[in-house]
Amino acid sequence: MTFARLSAVLTLALGAVQSANAAITKSVRCASGHVTANAACCALFPVVDLLQSSLFDGAECGEEAHSALRLSFHDAIGFSIHGGKGGGADGSILVFNATELKFHANGGIDDITAGQFPVFQQSGLTPGDFVHLAAAVGTANCPGAPRLEFMFGRPPPKAPAPDLTVPEPTDSVTKILERFADAGFAPPEIVALLSSHTIAAADVVDVTIPGTPFDSTVGTFDTQVFLEVLLKGKSFPGNGSQPGEVLSPLRGEMRLQSDFELSQDPRTACLWQAMVNDQTRMQTQFKAAMAKLQVLGQDVKRMVDCSDVVPVPATFKGPIKFPATFSQRDVQQACPELRFPTLQTVAGPAPTIPPVPGS
Ligand code: HEM
Ligand SMILES: *[C@@H]1O[C@H](CO)[C@@H](O)[C@H](O)[C@H]1NC(C)=O
Ligand SMILES: *[C@@H]1O[C@H](CO)[C@@H](O)[C@H](O)[C@H]1NC(C)=O
Repeated sequence: MTFARLSAVLTLALGAVQSANAAITKSVRCASGHVTANAACCALFPVVDLLQSSLFDGAECGEEAHSALRLSFHDAIGFSIHGGKGGGADGSILVFNATELKFHANGGIDDITAGQFPVFQQSGLTPGDFVHLAAAVGTANCPGAPRLEFMFGRPPPKAPAPDLTVPEPTDSVTKILERFADAGFAPPEIVALLSSHTIAAADVVDVTIPGTPFDSTVGTFDTQVFLEVLLKGKSFPGNGSQPGEVLSPLRGEMRLQSDFELSQDPRTACLWQAMVNDQTRMQTQFKAAMAKLQVLGQDVKRMVDCSDVVPVPATFKGPIKFPATFSQRDVQQACPELRFPTLQTVAGPAPTIPPVPGS
């Protein structure tokens, strides 16, 4: 092909992309009155309302919202860039629950799949679209969260994911990095995804204390978890030391062994510390990593960008603070080359963190 012909073809191709973009950016008014970039997205507004009323107790950042985010991870990570580990973000965890919920790493996930199943049946969506829309909407209920993207059009899952794709809190950093790399994620993306633990609690690490949070502000999508995982441990929150936890700094709080080790390992310590009190960095990186996670194994070219159906989260301004009685002295800093941010301390006696209601 001559250069002139090649460039003519490229110009044509570019023109097609540009007109496709133009079609996408022209907004549409749905029968419901909502405005969206693409008419195909109109079908999703009623599902968003249904999720908020039937699953999230009226747009709360509670147990169901937290678990919906965890479910999207456990669904999507059933994938390998080398093949043979499942269909990724396909909703297989919801419909092949008889298989996937038996996996050890999916302990405690049955509550949210049982809660989502009847809502999924009413929604008319495929399992994958439902699981990943629910995660985006649930996360949006948490102040400080970025507005996650939502791509629409996942086909139904073909089969359950195999076991051992979901990392465990007892895994070494090397094992965690290897599993994520196998699914296509680099260390900065892993640390970014772990921002999710700012709206998280454990039900089954220690079964005697369901709903034990990972940070002192479990209803806010802030960077508090990155700070508190770095604070020296003092006690275990429940029935002594259980597999997957290390001593925690605050009464009523759980510090996961995996989070702690990632905060200390030379491969991830500076990435971890850089998140402390940097709300913008966390939001930007979490949003980008989630956008990748939520279409893992999917053919994005056949999907429609319906991100504008996701509610806009309330903002969190910060700055964050050390919990009462804590200060720089208590920080187990593992990245000396990065200046630790100067933070104030909450006034009063050391807190006891209450469990998440409904756990
Ligand atoms: C190294 C990787 C990870 C490990 C070892 C891990 C481990 C855990 C564990 C043990 C729990 C508590 C389960 C229970 O006892 O109920 C948990 C909760 C949670 N995880 Fe992770 N996780 C990892 C990555 C992620 C990622 C990438 C996300 C999302 C993007 C995520 C989101 C959550 C959420 C939201 C919860 C709280 C669920 C609730 O409160 O109901 N995790 N995680
Ligand atoms: C599992 O899936 C079945 C349908 O295959 C559904 O009826 C049931 O409610 C689901 N249970 C849980 C715990 O997700
Ligand atoms: C408490 O922990 C011990 C040791 O880890 C374990 O053997 C025991 O079953 C636990 N008790 C309960 C009620 O879970």
